[in-house]
Amino acid sequence: MTKAPMKKAAAQTLPDDSFTITDNATGKSWQLPARTGVMGNRLMDIRRLYGDTGILTYDPGFTSTASCQSDITFIDGEKGVLLHRGYSIEQLALHSDFMETCYLLLYGELPTPEQKVSFDADIKNHTLLHDQFISFYKGFMRNAHPMAIMVGVVGALSAFYHDSIDITDLEQRQLAAHRLIAKMPTIGAYAYKYSLGMTFPLPRNELSYSENLLQMMFSNPAENYQINPVLSKAIDRILILHADHEQNASTSTVRLAGSSGANPYACIASGIASLWGPAHGGANEAVLNMLSEIGTVAQVGKYIHKAKDKSDPFRLMGFGHRVYKNYDPRAAVMRNTCHEVLEVLGIEDPKLKLALELEKIALEDPYFVEKKLYPNVDFYSGIILKAMGFPTSMFTVMFAIGRTVGWVSHWKEMLKDEHQKIGRPRQLYLGQKQRDYMPIERRGHTEKKVSWSWLWGKK
Ligand code: CMC
Repeated sequence: MTKAPMKKAAAQTLPDDSFTITDNATGKSWQLPARTGVMGNRLMDIRRLYGDTGILTYDPGFTSTASCQSDITFIDGEKGVLLHRGYSIEQLALHSDFMETCYLLLYGELPTPEQKVSFDADIKNHTLLHDQFISFYKGFMRNAHPMAIMVGVVGALSAFYHDSIDITDLEQRQLAAHRLIAKMPTIGAYAYKYSLGMTFPLPRNELSYSENLLQMMFSNPAENYQINPVLSKAIDRILILHADHEQNASTSTVRLAGSSGANPYACIASGIASLWGPAHGGANEAVLNMLSEIGTVAQVGKYIHKAKDKSDPFRLMGFGHRVYKNYDPRAAVMRNTCHEVLEVLGIEDPKLKLALELEKIALEDPYFVEKKLYPNVDFYSGIILKAMGFPTSMFTVMFAIGRTVGWVSHWKEMLKDEHQKIGRPRQLYLGQKQRDYMPIERRGHTEKKVSWSWLWGKK
């Protein structure tokens, strides 16, 4: 009987939708509002924290920080759920196609048949690259990494398409968005053709997005290129599975770059740069490099041991995920596609056999099981792309082509967000306190020979 009124009284001062934080050093307390999304975790809204209290939060890697509000993609990492605009990735991969998924991400709803036709046509209208880009490509070394070329060429789009860099103009924003989606396969395929010293094939607009991508990658001007429908379907699926993934490193990079008002081409180039790292989109390439290093099935045990050894920096590439601590739903779909493609192509590649052996052993090993380190989407996409004949260096380019729509959708959403501000994180300063400048002749000389690597701080 006594408990109920106390609970009521407490509820009046401490409503459910707030948090009380106490500074134990001063005994002061503040109330911070809570926010709850349509789904997902409850959040502490700390926007006024610094202004009201002078206190900052410390969160390297943003493991506990929501940097924005968004209605594009929802992930429940514990349950292995990924939804785009409310639709599960499994359903999209099974029933949709990449163009439709692009429309959904960009505009929030699946297109009607008329909207689909008009969107497809508009994307096809922008597949060509300005002729002067040929000279631009020629400035790169033939052995340049295609991701290096992507960063340069996509950034350079802003030097060519001046009609779509005014971010205050809604039509220009749309033009830039469609252009980027349309031109990415052309830009990526040309990076590959350039490395081979081959002429740049023109896009063929009677083909679908993924067929055209295959055609530009693998056609030979002296022969008639036949599209294999199993491969184009698999490419379409890979693109859908990579289309968006909430506030990951590259998307956050695009948002951060865009928050200053930078033009869309520059923002997407920054996303590509971020994607390139081996902990992010570069992992699919790293998987194949790792398989080369492992070499044979007999060596798998040794490398599993290395991955578990804390004193060894080696990690199993293509395993683990920051958000998915159960399984990566994209990996489940990709695994099926991977086995399908290998069967249809009837490929007997020792590296692919090795990959499947590694998958089997890691899925049973207590270290990986206990830490919930499952194969992620990059593990399987690398294997499929290798089976199809993509060179390893093009794997992350394929990821970038698929992810462009996600980046563009987040950039578009950010510009419309009334809470949007220029991104400007703070820091925990651990450097020197203020001190007086010392003229060079009065500075002591150290006996120790100092090497540059020491100065940079070996890890
Ligand atoms: N091999 C061996 N151990 C691992 C691995 C791995 N691949 N991944 C994580 N661990 C261990 C890690 O050592 C740590 O152990 P402990 O708790 O004993 O210190 C524990 O698992 C948790 O790892 P973490 O580094 O704190 O996790 P994170 O969320 O910071 O990192 C990750 C996630 C994806 C960067 C990491 O799992 C990794 O480096 N994986 C390999 C690279 C890779 O495949 N990246 C592609 C990610 S999916 C595509 C994308 O969305 O970009």
